[in-house]
Amino acid sequence: MTQILAIDQGTTSSRAIVFDADLRPKASAQKEFTQHYPASGWVEHDPEEIWDTVQETCKGALDKGGAVAAIGITNQRETVVVWDRETGAPIHNAIVWQDRRTAKVCAELKAAGHEEMVREKTGLLLDPYFSGTKLAWVLDNVEGARARAEAGELAFGTIDSFLIWRLTEGKRHVTDATNAARTLLYNIREGQWDEDILDLLGIPANMLPEVLDCGADFGETTLFGAPLPILGVAGDQQAATVGQACFQPGMLKSTYGTGCFALLNTGDTLVSSQNRMLGTIAYQFDGKPTYALEGSIFIAGAVVQWLRDGLKIIDDASQSAGLADQADAGQNLYLVPAFTGLGAPYWDPDARGALFGLTRNSGPAEIARAALESVGYQTRDLLEAMAADYPGDTGNVRVDGGMTASDWTMQFLADILGAPVDRPGVLETTAVGAAWIAGQRAGIYADQQGFAEAWALDTTFSPKMDEDTREARYAGWKDAVARTLTDRG
Ligand code: G3P
Repeated sequence: MTQILAIDQGTTSSRAIVFDADLRPKASAQKEFTQHYPASGWVEHDPEEIWDTVQETCKGALDKGGAVAAIGITNQRETVVVWDRETGAPIHNAIVWQDRRTAKVCAELKAAGHEEMVREKTGLLLDPYFSGTKLAWVLDNVEGARARAEAGELAFGTIDSFLIWRLTEGKRHVTDATNAARTLLYNIREGQWDEDILDLLGIPANMLPEVLDCGADFGETTLFGAPLPILGVAGDQQAATVGQACFQPGMLKSTYGTGCFALLNTGDTLVSSQNRMLGTIAYQFDGKPTYALEGSIFIAGAVVQWLRDGLKIIDDASQSAGLADQADAGQNLYLVPAFTGLGAPYWDPDARGALFGLTRNSGPAEIARAALESVGYQTRDLLEAMAADYPGDTGNVRVDGGMTASDWTMQFLADILGAPVDRPGVLETTAVGAAWIAGQRAGIYADQQGFAEAWALDTTFSPKMDEDTREARYAGWKDAVARTLTDRG
């Protein structure tokens, strides 16, 4: 057997893809699931629905693609699940990475002077984005949870960990270093859960999973027939970094899914950002972490969903660029999509979205253009901050994810960055990364160097916009963001 099944459990859908012996997608299945918004800024998923969609899509892909040798898992990161060790039943809905309910707690911890300690140990900031304060919220708000956690009855995991628990029918409670690195609880310098932070947030250590390398023995499942080992796990952005073969320090990828996440490989060095970027683990093999600087934007592809489901000005995401292209070039609208606050480099959980520059003539086309452009502007924010933290040539930005299929959006990205943008042949780099990690361990796929050599370019988008226009447009964006922030100091 020379094929691998990759499970890609994302924010809005679960997918399963069978990759063939040459690491080409052979068969896939995808299923969207319900987003729950119980209050302003709150986002939840039903873990049972996630589990159902994962099983269904795995079966669908395997039925079409045939037998596989192993499974690789990649997943939406930071999202918190707490379940009963005895029954495997979650005690609350999953609290999704986008959820802002712990903004006040984070602000209090920051005001009490804890951010520097947390940043030093985890590379992260005190923002509700990360798992730690969400987990504390569950313990404080679900009746009896804290006492049960202290008694060892409850388990915590990010989505990978929950899926592995279910796949192995409760035999393994594990995660990988990249997912652990997003919890706010894991010391990425020392490679272990951090006692000081666990104390600060009041989290019992017995709830936490064992942390393994990305390529490791995560247990096996018999749910799809013969026993299948799970040999690879990485958070989706880290899996995309691997899938884009960004293995050398200085290489940079930017993925456009629900949000946009840029990761810059910094090798053995954990760069301490002076510009509110995050430090994180890009991947970990043989016990050795490779670090990255990360810029995280919460709304990218989600802005296109909003055009479709909220404004209803398009029927399908693929229509957004066509509509944007009809916009009146004389109007300069700016959409700041702070629907769930702003991430890097602003980190303002209480900011909310705003549209600037409306005139009597503004309509769906201008709004669609502003929506797509917001993704380019936000990427430039990230890349400028990263360049300040990590001077030197980072080469062309490698892009991937659903939005990159749009030439219009990618051309605007190159224009506003003033730098070339490389789009690879395979846009599903997240799943490719997870499949490669598992398949390499199973002895099916080439080693790191062979994999990097096989990375294939599809298109390079070169900037066409003149410098004055570029800088004027970007200045307009900075002004729009400044007017959206809650603290306009
Ligand atoms: O940190 C959140 C990220 O992992 C979610 O990724 O692809 O669902 O936008 P995506």
